[in-house]
Amino acid sequence: MIISDNEQSKNIKSLNDEKMTPSITEFDMTFESNIRPKTFDSYIGQTNLKNMLKISIEAAKKREIPLDHLLFYGPPGLGKTTLACVIANETGAEIKITSAPALERPRDIIGILMSLKPGEVLFIDEIHRLNKIAEEILYPAMEDFFLDMNTGKGQSLKTLRVPVPKFTLIGATTKAGALSGPLRDRFGIVHRLEFYSQDELKQVVKRTAKILNIDITEDGALAVAKRSRGTPRIANRLVKRVADYALVKYDGIVNEKISNEALDNLNIDKYGLDATDRALLALIGEKYQGGPVGLETLAAALGEDSKTIEEVYEPYLLQEGFIQRTPRGRKITPYAAKILNFKYDSIQPSLF
Ligand code: ADE
Repeated sequence: MIISDNEQSKNIKSLNDEKMTPSITEFDMTFESNIRPKTFDSYIGQTNLKNMLKISIEAAKKREIPLDHLLFYGPPGLGKTTLACVIANETGAEIKITSAPALERPRDIIGILMSLKPGEVLFIDEIHRLNKIAEEILYPAMEDFFLDMNTGKGQSLKTLRVPVPKFTLIGATTKAGALSGPLRDRFGIVHRLEFYSQDELKQVVKRTAKILNIDITEDGALAVAKRSRGTPRIANRLVKRVADYALVKYDGIVNEKISNEALDNLNIDKYGLDATDRALLALIGEKYQGGPVGLETLAAALGEDSKTIEEVYEPYLLQEGFIQRTPRGRKITPYAAKILNFKYDSIQPSLF
């Protein structure tokens, strides 16, 4: 069933009409799912990927076969899960959402595969964390829609081929390089999700503000977009915080001045960098004289997990040209050194 955006606003209306007062978590979750786009038309950005997907979906419909398995990779918060839900909705299929760490035992993955309905979408987040046994169970299911089940022991060991319904697997990962070759090769479509442009994020902010009944000006929306690190999940979080600020300190209308003031208060600077980003850059740029510094050294100095630094913080800093990754570690760029007023940058050592 395809759920339109009208349907979405009806849900919100009924929530308001009935003056329900759910607990904070239920309230937040209700809005979280309401601001998620459900159709390609309401999903902003990732235009190339969307166009390609529309063609693949239509071709699969014409051939009366399930859509090829898809692998989405890229930094967190760019809409991989949302897009999987849009695909399921647009193909009229149901979706089961899980994540690789939840598929620890063979029976977890077997159970989920056996429970699928024909044509259903199975979404596995963090698919690079799937263990070897789960991967090997998945291979024949992805390729031929069969499970190889072993019965008996020793001489009487037999392998039974048990059919599973035809399904589409959508895998998501922040680390495509960590996927095993055989698993990656079984996806018919492999696509990287890109950071969003300021204009796309402004549209995301305006759309979310409309759904949440937030009064925001064009400039106010752009100011939020500019500090959202190219990431809609961040834009959606910031627009709510900025709206709270406008409501408590002003008349509730979010304009450029109020947006900037609220974001300054949240310690998010005009480049979208938060306190951890700035600490990381200052560490390389000042304490380690521009770098190179190894990832583990950075993690220990910041008290952060090295995976979080690598998968959450670094992609945006790399994309925006603040840091460089080299075989000997991370370096600050002259651009970052200049705008952040660091004494050192490691790309032009002759400067110091
Ligand atoms: N919310 C989160 N991601 C979005 C997107 N790509 N389009 C519209 N709203 C979103």
